[in-house]
Amino acid sequence: MAELAEIILDGKSYKFPVITGTENEKAIDISKLRDETGYITYDQGYKNTGATKSEITFLDGENGILHYRGYPIEQLAETSSFLEVVYLLIYGNLPNRAELDSFTNRISKRSLVHEDMKIILDGFPSYAHPMGVLSSLVCSMTAFYPESLNPNPTDEDMDLHIIRLLAKMPTMVSWSYRKSKGMPFNYPKNGLDYCSNFLQMMFAHPTESYHVDPVVSDALNKLLILHADHEQNCSTSTVRIVGSSQASLYGSVSAGINALWGPLHGGANQEVIEMLDEIMASGMSVASFIDKVKKKEVRLMGFGHRVYKNFDPRAKIIKVACDQILNKLGINDPILDVAKALEEAALKDPYFVDRKLYPNVDFYSGIIYRALGIPVNMFTVMFALGRLPGWIAQWKELRANKEPIGRPRQIYTGSVKRDFTVIAKR
Ligand code: CMC
Repeated sequence: MAELAEIILDGKSYKFPVITGTENEKAIDISKLRDETGYITYDQGYKNTGATKSEITFLDGENGILHYRGYPIEQLAETSSFLEVVYLLIYGNLPNRAELDSFTNRISKRSLVHEDMKIILDGFPSYAHPMGVLSSLVCSMTAFYPESLNPNPTDEDMDLHIIRLLAKMPTMVSWSYRKSKGMPFNYPKNGLDYCSNFLQMMFAHPTESYHVDPVVSDALNKLLILHADHEQNCSTSTVRIVGSSQASLYGSVSAGINALWGPLHGGANQEVIEMLDEIMASGMSVASFIDKVKKKEVRLMGFGHRVYKNFDPRAKIIKVACDQILNKLGINDPILDVAKALEEAALKDPYFVDRKLYPNVDFYSGIIYRALGIPVNMFTVMFALGRLPGWIAQWKELRANKEPIGRPRQIYTGSVKRDFTVIAKR
């Protein structure tokens, strides 16, 4: 017999179906709640609200499990290329050789951006934050490809927009960086793999030859995979809610980039490095900093997660990778020691233990980005580059399932005024 949840309101009993996911997650389906009872649910921050059914990513916060399309993140990060994972997230299966070659080829062929994008870039001051620049460039794709505004694209058109965005994102990301440096823009090189091509667009100097260090491109590949999707987080929910109004893919992803920018979400990776640098520069001890956190004067950035309450599996992989990459590159960054000391102190302290606060994906990723030569204000942009396939896959799923427009309700708590005197008649 189907499982039902009973809710009693004003002495009357109502029954609602229980939904069970493939990993045995349970939800009470309250889609008829208001119609039948006149009540709504109240759940600030959507801590208990499932906004959709999704086949893309499974996350078990209690047990530190993260799967993309059923595959454990640990295996994908160890063995796959970023483009394989992109394909997996967007099309639902790992590609075979022919599928991967054709996918890679389609992406390479579309990696150039319209030359007029340089005019848009010219309008920004060189000190503009690259996240703002990137979200503007992605949104500007609606102007270069106005057919993307068609609310009912064919599957073929939708796929073309997806390929375009995947292909041009590394170019736009690297150009937002080059702009901030006053450096000439580099063009994509189709012979290179996704990560190596991106690195040459970021760092190749016009007067010198540039060799992509495989240690650097492998590290980037891993980081991008670890960031590729994370189910209904703040930016992904933003992409889905914007997409639910039938806004274009480019407009929806641009909104996601802005949501990611905040310090409580993707912006945390920049905040972590700034925090570690500040601790070092001030000469403050780790213990004094932990005391400040406990007094709630500051947050320990890169710690805590809405869903993970045991450990973040991405953080585990990144911590190991961080040691390996710095070793291979022969870099001795003293902030790694500060980060480790902070982690050790926090994991022993009841403040963090009681609140189930553990290092998240952002705690060590910034140290790797820094070792790869990526400047601090580009860290969140790198997160966006990695998260792009997740946003796309979620947007595509929402459209394929013809999900209704997202529109939460509220409980009004403002004043109630009925009688008022007219002062002046219009
Ligand atoms: N440092 C100190 N205290 C914290 C922290 C932290 N990083 N995170 C949570 N707390 C405390 C918080 O003050 C609260 O304490 P109390 O119960 O005494 O009021 C308790 O823990 C619960 O916190 P919350 O803010 O209600 O938890 P949340 O689930 O709403 O927030 C979070 C999750 C990630 C926003 C939060 O942990 C945080 O601000 N962390 C620092 C920012 C960060 O690293 N963000 C990156 C998240 S992972 C990347 C991504 O996917 O976005």
